[in-house]
Amino acid sequence: MTRSRLRGTGSALPANVVTNAELAERVDTSDEWIVERTGIRQRYIAEDGETTSTLAIAAARAALDDARIEAGEIDLIVLATATPDNTFPATATKVQHALGCNGCIAFDVAAVCSGFLYALATADSMLQSGMAKRALVIGAETFSRILDWEDRTTCVLFGDGAGAIVIERDDASSSDSADAPGIISTRLHADGAQHDLLYVDGGPSTTQTVGHLRMKGREVFRHAVVNLASVLHEVIEDAGISTDDIDWVVPHQANARILDATARKLGLPAEKIVVTVDQHANTSAASVPLALDTARRDGRIKDGDLVMLEAMGGGFTWGASLIRI
Ligand code: UT7
Repeated sequence: MTRSRLRGTGSALPANVVTNAELAERVDTSDEWIVERTGIRQRYIAEDGETTSTLAIAAARAALDDARIEAGEIDLIVLATATPDNTFPATATKVQHALGCNGCIAFDVAAVCSGFLYALATADSMLQSGMAKRALVIGAETFSRILDWEDRTTCVLFGDGAGAIVIERDDASSSDSADAPGIISTRLHADGAQHDLLYVDGGPSTTQTVGHLRMKGREVFRHAVVNLASVLHEVIEDAGISTDDIDWVVPHQANARILDATARKLGLPAEKIVVTVDQHANTSAASVPLALDTARRDGRIKDGDLVMLEAMGGGFTWGASLIRI
């Protein structure tokens, strides 16, 4: 029995902070509405020269430093994004070149807000199959570039950023119990029938434009609570643990009310939920690794803790992963 163990985390944010009050000068909204309906107080927005790859590279470097691993020791990079620098090549290859680990496997994964969960599951499987030993798993986005800044129902919700982790196959791991460190269980799902509830109205093969994000927020909200509670139950059952065993939940940061509703459905106390949506807003694939890194660095999440990651996004796609740190 081998397991992929977490060796380090890192994150990066653009320099420019945009508050709700500043947004209220551009569209018909208010700090009060945004805080009450979403919990968001501010977001970071990339400026000229800041791209998905520059944020990803900074987050990856921070994760490598934290793991005390040289870039040359990485043999796999999986980068989750819905806002790549270019349609191709994969943004992961830009990260690879900047880090100097040329030659290793590098590719992008597109599963929007659940992208990091999909990337993590892919990297974990590749480590377990023996294709690689040490992986950088990155979620990086510049959603500000695909927002319709005239549409108050979406433009207030998102921000830019990146998070990264280093995982390593632990060949010495001897136990498959939830007490042993590493990735214990992951479950992923998708439902393409819900395409029209959350999508971008452009793309190379349809309009030859980048397009803008479109969302039926209320319906996405309803599906999110049901789907997340369901996949969390699946992982809890597969791992043979009880909800009480979980030390921290690191959810996708879309809306504080979704976090509350999901926690209530599972019987999890609010104090066990890592919340960063107030500071970062929804950073899509970056949100889970950004929140994980934030909570590790501020001392909330410690070695030995049992941590549940979960996310839901466009597609729909959704998933959860249980990790002993
Ligand atoms: O990351 C992928 C997953 N995404 C999500 O999980 C997002 C899920 N959805 C949500 O978070 C929430 O549905 C929203 C935050 C998007 C919206 O909150 P809501 O409580 O569902 O509001 P609503 O869409 O039902 O809109 C309520 C009212 C509407 O006015 P009327 O029709 O009642 O007069 C909207 O036009 O709020 C209005 N509204 C706003 N008012 C001020 C919508 N956006 C804004 C705004 N400022 N920015």
